[in-house]
Amino acid sequence: MSEIPVITIDGPSGAGKGTIARQLADELGFHMLDSGAVYRAAALHALDCGADLDDEASVLDALQSMQARFQPDPEGVQVWLGEQNVTSRLRLETTGNAASRVAVMAAVRESVLDEQRSFRKAPGLVADGRDMGTVVFPDATLKVFLSASRQVRAERRSKQLKEKGIDVTMACLLQEIGARDERDSSREHSPLVAANDALIIDSSDLSIDEVVAQIKSALSTADTPGG
Ligand code: DC
Repeated sequence: MSEIPVITIDGPSGAGKGTIARQLADELGFHMLDSGAVYRAAALHALDCGADLDDEASVLDALQSMQARFQPDPEGVQVWLGEQNVTSRLRLETTGNAASRVAVMAAVRESVLDEQRSFRKAPGLVADGRDMGTVVFPDATLKVFLSASRQVRAERRSKQLKEKGIDVTMACLLQEIGARDERDSSREHSPLVAANDALIIDSSDLSIDEVVAQIKSALSTADTPGG
């Protein structure tokens, strides 16, 4: 057990985990782990190597040669695969879907565990993902499960994409989000579920500041290591 505090924020895609995690980490002066970026980088590398994303051995084989670097950035994280900055490719919907496919594989999840845990550094970490509180940091100081209705998540995603000049229909987004929820929640290994001891927040009708305030208030009453 580490003495370094960790706040985990798990939940489905589009619930606002990344935005909330970043603001919380900034306010607390903590490091941040965007674990989705780790799975996205793994999927991209596997694709670049020509691996078959439905074949665990093929993906694992590709991951042997992965050299990923994650560098914090005010916008989130900059990611390199070898010498190549892959940050914008990482954010594509197609990469998210590919990440969700490789993330069902137990050996892939096992292979990125140490990388994720290495982000736990003083003075503390805010980690966002699907299994941060259940598997990666089971001894977290505070576990949050952040959800929002599928409609709200699709609307938020549509807005984000529009800002980047990408136009996608709501029907298409709703369908993609539904498929991703289904795969992330029903997989055998580390499925998306709230930890038993998680604080559950539905952000559908809450602002970013309101969610961050709820988490900070819960943190003030949580048992902090050494505190
Ligand atoms: O949060 P995101 O959209 O960047 O994540 C992309 C995919 O990676 C997601 O659909 C499932 C997978 N993932 C996971 O299985 N476990 C995590 N802790 C984070 C992401």
